[in-house]
Amino acid sequence: MPRVPRLSDMKKVLVLVYSQTGQLSSIAQSLTAPLVENPGIAVHVEYLRPASPYPFPWSLPRFLDAFPESALGIPCELAPPALPPDAEFDLILLFYQVWYLAPSPPVTAFLRSEAGRRLLAGKPVVTVVGCRNMWMKAHERMVLLLAEIAARHIDHVVFTDRAPTLATLLTTPLWLLTGKRRPVPGLPPAGVRDDDIQRAARFGHALADALAADRERGNGPLLGGLAAVEARPELMASENAGTRSFALWSRIVRLGGEPGAPLRLVFLTLFLVYLVAIILTVVPVSLVLQRLLRPLMKRRLAAIKRHMEWPSGSGTERMAHYER
Ligand SMILES: Cc1cc2nc3c(=O)[nH]c(=O)nc-3n(C[C@H](O)[C@H](O)[C@H](O)COP(=O)(O)O)c2cc1C
Repeated sequence: MPRVPRLSDMKKVLVLVYSQTGQLSSIAQSLTAPLVENPGIAVHVEYLRPASPYPFPWSLPRFLDAFPESALGIPCELAPPALPPDAEFDLILLFYQVWYLAPSPPVTAFLRSEAGRRLLAGKPVVTVVGCRNMWMKAHERMVLLLAEIAARHIDHVVFTDRAPTLATLLTTPLWLLTGKRRPVPGLPPAGVRDDDIQRAARFGHALADALAADRERGNGPLLGGLAAVEARPELMASENAGTRSFALWSRIVRLGGEPGAPLRLVFLTLFLVYLVAIILTVVPVSLVLQRLLRPLMKRRLAAIKRHMEWPSGSGTERMAHYER
């Protein structure tokens, strides 16, 4: 009869998730299923709970009101975690979404909290992003946030909406504002594709093997060769311009007061006009320019891609083994 492992012999994995639409929780469930089913691994899932929950679907004023604090990385208040204060884990999986080109405030809040620091310091952390398709500046911030608390960032996985950028610029906000994934007939549904979510299980299988061989104690990555992240360096120019203008606009909006203050709404309306103008002009022009200049910028784009995909990479050499 197979021996039932004692709890002290089991590898302990902490899964941290915040999700509004349920998309990131589905990705987390699919990815961690092989770990949950493994008798040698104990998985604790901690759902981050903002003290005052963000709505879904959003109203337009609330959606805009979340902008300044998200863009500036100002944390929201979180309900205390359900974890005992002395909990220790061998591996941490941190699932996060991007809000206004930065990690969402609930995730930032956890990383800045006492509990977050204590749980992650010195531990190997795998980050998993689920977003529309602009995650590179948020990833840079995440790298810094994890370094600040001395966590070991060993892998980085990204799930995006694979529909054309110009379509997602319409379908994503409409999904978030109406709750409907297919808000415009004829356009692809908003969000990460269901088959991409199902195929996230390959990462769980690879992590289970790595834990069995104690490879989480090394410097990683554990998820190479599994198409963990496919960076689109041509979006970097828009992300750079966006973060620069967001830094300025968010400071202007905060002159109107704290979240919910009526004066903020005036500044936020101006910001909305600016945002729509940028989306209709700068983003398409930048995409066309990038396409024309691609041959001249080949080396620069390749360097951005390598940097943004580090350490897990976009290689596929282990896919056949782990896609079951
Ligand atoms: C306020 C807000 C701002 C967002 N900003 C971005 C963004 O800058 N880049 C991006 O790729 N996705 C953006 N998204 C999409 C989210 O990253 C995410 O995919 C979506 O909200 C669903 O995730 P969920 O699992 O949290 O429900 C934004 C969503 C919200 C609600």
